[in-house]
Amino acid sequence: MILVTGGAGFIGANFVHQWFESGHEAAVVLDKLTYAGNLGNLADLMGRSGFHFVHADICDRTALQRVLTEHRPRAIVHFAAESHVDRSIRGPAQFLQTNFTGTFELLEAAREYWVALPGAQRDSFRFLHVSTDEVYGSLRETDPAFSEQRAYSPNSPYAASKAASDHLVRAWHQTYGLPTLVTNCGNNYGPYQFPEKLIPLMILNALEGKPLPVYGDGLNVRDWLYVTDHCTAIQRVLASGRIGQTYNIGGGCERRNVEVVRAICAALAALRPRAGGYESQIEFVQDRPGHDRRYAIDASKVQGELGWRPQETFESGLSKTVRWYLDHADWVAAVRDGRYRQWIELHYGSDRPGPT
Ligand code: NAD
Ligand code: TYD
Repeated sequence: MILVTGGAGFIGANFVHQWFESGHEAAVVLDKLTYAGNLGNLADLMGRSGFHFVHADICDRTALQRVLTEHRPRAIVHFAAESHVDRSIRGPAQFLQTNFTGTFELLEAAREYWVALPGAQRDSFRFLHVSTDEVYGSLRETDPAFSEQRAYSPNSPYAASKAASDHLVRAWHQTYGLPTLVTNCGNNYGPYQFPEKLIPLMILNALEGKPLPVYGDGLNVRDWLYVTDHCTAIQRVLASGRIGQTYNIGGGCERRNVEVVRAICAALAALRPRAGGYESQIEFVQDRPGHDRRYAIDASKVQGELGWRPQETFESGLSKTVRWYLDHADWVAAVRDGRYRQWIELHYGSDRPGPT
């Protein structure tokens, strides 16, 4: 049994699916179901033996203690976070609350649980914290990619809150000996990603005939990784990573934003041809404040130590992603019109415990 926080979100849901597909027996997902949490992402796992869902906030220590006592996990994989940079610029408070205070509460609950475990279980317990390359700040065009030695230099409220959470995890290992692992990954894309992030937003706007809003000059660079490749890396680090270590995860796949948007237009033109194509919808709009110019990951540590390699190229991953959004019109419609939120009402009416 493992505990997965934030498992109803984009990467967490992909991770939980992969966890069961790769033959593992049990997982409990703990999720607050914010706007980014969607139980529909886990619909096919509901009712499966070994799968449990708990509606709770990682800031709620009592709820965390209850889950740990009841399910007795051998590891915690911590995805739960506020994750969108633009939202963090408009409203940073919730980012500090969930990403910093929530991680603190989870670390404390984990520590209390871990010290009380019997010897062998205590030795094998792991706390894996899922983080981002954005903690390292921005690279110039000719700078080397981010290694694990790179100094932290976060520029957005999101990146600062994740950097702060990484520091807490480090301190809980150094001070209390909690057996932690940290992964810092580049930009993910793939199924179940909420359409506020670049790739799904562009796919859906293109299909709906809306503008494709590229920030600034469109030359900012991100290092893209197909989500299931990120999930296999997390599984590898969880199984064999060295305690207290950080592993950077990336696909060696740098692309300028405008190239990504053009590639989406090309993929759509192939799969859903339309007179005139989609590129004419591209619009250059006002830049994001503090917009990091370039991210790039040096993944040689996870490759060398743990033998991890991505399976997808950007082209194969993007084609799968576009296909997934085309094939999942119901998921898209429920997200677009807010129907996915009714799950919460339906499932967690006033008589059920859970966060408000
Ligand atoms: P997401 O926004 O899609 O999902 C976040 C999930 O966490 C949602 O299900 C949400 O309901 C849940 N959540 C939010 N606040 C919570 C709280 N207080 N208590 C319990 N649950 C809460 O995010 P994602 O893109 O899947 O990212 C998952 C993790 O991976 C995050 O920690 C993020 O920083 C990290 N990460 C993301 C990327 C990326 O490209 N998306 C890259 C590297 C690292
Ligand atoms: P995003 O998906 O928000 O991820 P992050 O900011 O965490 O890297 O954005 C990816 C890149 O795309 C980033 O450089 C900002 C840019 N972008 C746009 O140009 N237009 C958009 O509408 C969005 C959402 C992002």
